[in-house]
Amino acid sequence: MAEQVYIFDTTLRDGEQSPGASMTTDEKIRMALQLERLGVDVIEAGFPIASPGEFESVQKIASSLKNVTVAGLARANKADIDAAWNAIKVAAHPRLHIFIATSDIHLKYKLKRTREQVLEDAVGAVKHALQFTGDVEFSAEDATRSDIDYLCQIVKAVIEAGASVVNLPDTVGYSIPAEIGALFRKIRENVPNIDRVILSTHCHNDLGMAVANSLAAVRFGARQVECTVNGIGERAGNASLEEIVMAIRTREDQLPFHTNISSREIYKTSKLLGTLTGLAIPRNKPIVGKNAFAHESGVHQDGVIKSALTYEIMTPDSVGVPQSSIVLGKHSGKHGLRARCEAIGFKLGEDELKEVYNKFIDLADKKKEVTDEDLVAIVEDVLDLVEQVYQLEYLQTTSGSNTKATATVQLKSNSNSVLDSNVGDGPVDATYKTIERITGITGRLLEYSINAVTIGKDAMGEAFVKVRFQDDTVAGHGLSTDVIEASAKAYLNALNKWLSLGKRK
Ligand code: KIV
Ligand code: ZN
Repeated sequence: MAEQVYIFDTTLRDGEQSPGASMTTDEKIRMALQLERLGVDVIEAGFPIASPGEFESVQKIASSLKNVTVAGLARANKADIDAAWNAIKVAAHPRLHIFIATSDIHLKYKLKRTREQVLEDAVGAVKHALQFTGDVEFSAEDATRSDIDYLCQIVKAVIEAGASVVNLPDTVGYSIPAEIGALFRKIRENVPNIDRVILSTHCHNDLGMAVANSLAAVRFGARQVECTVNGIGERAGNASLEEIVMAIRTREDQLPFHTNISSREIYKTSKLLGTLTGLAIPRNKPIVGKNAFAHESGVHQDGVIKSALTYEIMTPDSVGVPQSSIVLGKHSGKHGLRARCEAIGFKLGEDELKEVYNKFIDLADKKKEVTDEDLVAIVEDVLDLVEQVYQLEYLQTTSGSNTKATATVQLKSNSNSVLDSNVGDGPVDATYKTIERITGITGRLLEYSINAVTIGKDAMGEAFVKVRFQDDTVAGHGLSTDVIEASAKAYLNALNKWLSLGKRK
């Protein structure tokens, strides 16, 4: 049996740190449960000392997960470690993840500490963490720009102190594959107690080499890869989980390893993250982009028809991309719908099924062919647990080249319905201005996009927005065959999320 490479997912920590990727606690729990289904070995839930909200969210994630290790991040000091432990101790399998920078650049400019002091801090922190759990990971931040002899010294010392995982991050995405390979080889050759730990890699993508660097590290001894779904993360992002997993699976001849990932859950996980954060997945993104399995040129299409082997190195099915088959018509019953939902990976409760069914019938009325992709979008929409403080009851807009756009909107909140109208620069602006007037809450629209779920003139539109309400930036999404209605729903989704955040505060 090939050796296992452990997948450490940091979407909810390093990924969430990237601009525009913030999620509410409920959204993070939803994402964490999906990551558990995907089969990751470790979920880094957050950095508990960062804020009370972050602490609460790490704690809730930790108590929601049963089959996966939950890591909490801490700097190498007691206050951070205590906070991280208090947040993750409810987990079935908790891990403390401690980091301190080891490069001279970071020591001189950021930490203002000597090498000796940093070594002492690292060892002290690992020992302190071991009072709480035997599962302690140590990360040497900026390892790839650190002096190799000093790095060997600190790695040896934290292993002696009791760390069980040692991570060597390429924090600024500076390295190239040959260099990372050499680094891991040197560490293994020069640290006498290295066999007592799992070596880990954590690469950023500033030069576009995060995945290649991670795989080079694996070839030279790393058995844990830290990565994020869709490669989201600080600056240019982290190594992308789906690319690493599928590279290992597809090129077993060169990378004789295996992971625990259920690859058919990959597409669903990627899509969920896109929906929750509003961070669009580029069409040409490997594995999960819309074009990843599309064959445009005649020569390629001809080849694929004769045998998929000609131009496909993996099948869409292997990563769970829904096939655009026509699934159901409006006369299909609930049983058929349930079966189809299960076939594409969603097990729904009775109430959820009822809601999905109503939306499906509604869509089938407007659109003859309801595909798997439509169904995924509907189910994601229904599973969105945001409390409906304001609900859209009615929307009518008028616009044209020589007309001032107007919108009439009716919103329901508790048992009150309020109807109002306003003008704007186009129907979306008029709709948003009317919503603002009804709710009395002003938001600044930072981002707006609309994508078709499938091809065809009758395709559903999925609108994504980022809205700034006071000091918070919130993502929202909305689904409809009418793009203005999808836009209104996206805005209300963001507003409702923000209101539920406010309630928690
Ligand atoms: O990039 C990095 O060095 C990190 C560490 C905290 C592991 O994210
Ligand atoms: Zn990082």
